[in-house]
Amino acid sequence: MHKVIFDTDPGIDDAMALLFLHQHPQVDLIGITTVFGNGTIDTTTRNALYLKEEWSIEAPVARGAGMPLDPRREYGEPPRIVHGDNALGNVPLPDVVVSRPDERPAHRFIIDAVRADPGNVTIIAVGRMTNLALALRDDPEIARLVKKVILMGGAFTVPGNVSPVAEANIMGDPEAADIVFTAPWKVVAVGLDVTMKTVITRSTMAQLAERGGERTKLLAAMSQHYIDFYTRFVEDGMVVHDSCACAYLVAPELFATRGGAIRVVSEGIAVGQTIQKPDGRFFPPGAWDGNPGQLACIDVDAEGVLGLIAETIAS
Ligand code: BDR
Ligand code: CA
Repeated sequence: MHKVIFDTDPGIDDAMALLFLHQHPQVDLIGITTVFGNGTIDTTTRNALYLKEEWSIEAPVARGAGMPLDPRREYGEPPRIVHGDNALGNVPLPDVVVSRPDERPAHRFIIDAVRADPGNVTIIAVGRMTNLALALRDDPEIARLVKKVILMGGAFTVPGNVSPVAEANIMGDPEAADIVFTAPWKVVAVGLDVTMKTVITRSTMAQLAERGGERTKLLAAMSQHYIDFYTRFVEDGMVVHDSCACAYLVAPELFATRGGAIRVVSEGIAVGQTIQKPDGRFFPPGAWDGNPGQLACIDVDAEGVLGLIAETIAS
């Protein structure tokens, strides 16, 4: 059984990933922590609470960061064109959600949960890495107590999606991402190199809506807006970025990885770029030296991942 904290900015592909974690028999979802990104922190927290209620998820929701780690960093408006005004594809949502968030901020929730079960908690982070960086700043020891961090973020061998080199989750808080990649814990980056290959078509989504009952019907309704956006890049379907990170948790054999220290560019035209120094390659002394080797996913059995996601969310 994998004990998981899901750090997320729901978000439509985040919602699918949440349903995957909730339904997968080998996952024990112990907490949902929210971060700004696909919506403001008010929006993403409301959405997490809404999905928790709709899908009868027991795990508590803890509200996290509403802005990047460095207060000087500009962070702009949420990407409404991708996820809609309410970040859940403009499906009608109740004015009020009944559930309340945990009293602790997300980073404190993470610290407490990790310390309560040292060595056994995996963090899956699919938004900006701000909450993880704040947790490391308050309690650096947790890096040695977390089992693994699997994050959706980065672009290692392919172009980015918010600049020619940067992926959105990293670009949204590059300082936080660099702290997460260079901390002494195991990180697996599931970035655009693999996620852009995992596409669920509109017709497959319609079939899943039928097979999976009310839960997948809601997911399919949310997804229409996201599919409309993604048809600019793929044929009538949606890229399931965040679910890929969850698929890695239970089926890492479906991914090819490359090891090596990873740093994030924080200034200039390449801000947000993730650069790995591949293990076994030698260079003059540089910014990667002395940092832990992390794994970047560079290829994927896309059919295998899509089959796993479909079976899990429609079960
Ligand atoms: C990432 O950015 C967000 O829009 C998605 O939810 C995903 O986590 C993809 O770049
Ligand atoms: Ca996300």
